[in-house]
Amino acid sequence: MKTPLIIVNYKTYIESTGKNALELSKILDKASKEYDVNIILAPQCADMKDIISEVDIPVFSQGIDAIEPGAHTSHILAESIKEIGASGTLLNHSENKIENDRIEFCVNRCKKLNLSVCICVENIEKIEELIGFEPYFMAFEDPELIGTGVSVSKTKPEIVSKSVNAIKKYKKNILALCGAGISDTEDVRKSIELGCDGVLLASALIKAKDREKKIHELIQGILK
Ligand code: G3P
Repeated sequence: MKTPLIIVNYKTYIESTGKNALELSKILDKASKEYDVNIILAPQCADMKDIISEVDIPVFSQGIDAIEPGAHTSHILAESIKEIGASGTLLNHSENKIENDRIEFCVNRCKKLNLSVCICVENIEKIEELIGFEPYFMAFEDPELIGTGVSVSKTKPEIVSKSVNAIKKYKKNILALCGAGISDTEDVRKSIELGCDGVLLASALIKAKDREKKIHELIQGILK
């Protein structure tokens, strides 16, 4: 996959739900093509099918559950996102953490189904615990800075570099991302300078007054 890239986590903001999610997705699809950069969308499950039918860029779920097909209620089955055309999933976001054995189970199920996984982690210890599962992406996000508009790459550059080193030391081709508070061109550029293959972001884009303008601004940070 061409890097640097941007993953947009739609979370459950009203601005990225339903019709608003579709509208945002079309803007991001257009920007991805215009600049020839990879943008991955992670909307809510209920919106995924409509979005997938309208865009060409990859769509991830925000998570899956550690289950096999069968008698489970209110869970997300890997097969269900695969069947509607998803390319992968986030896993273990700090707003929905899961135990290590469940993460391993989900990563293995996704590999069988050819779905890419982005494991989110909140510190270096967690990277060391989980890197052996060999996900496609690992994203370091400082929970304290999520949703604050204060960028992890600007305020905690040493931890971002350390997280990249911890990932790449294990395997160079696992893509290393950072997230939390990434809000403008400089925040993205700094993340890439620190060695990240991309960024994972949400509020600055989703809540922007002009989302088209904001994604153009963020993309400038990954262009050479
Ligand atoms: O997964 C993205 C994330 O948690 C960062 O959120 O709003 O700080 O960009 P935000």
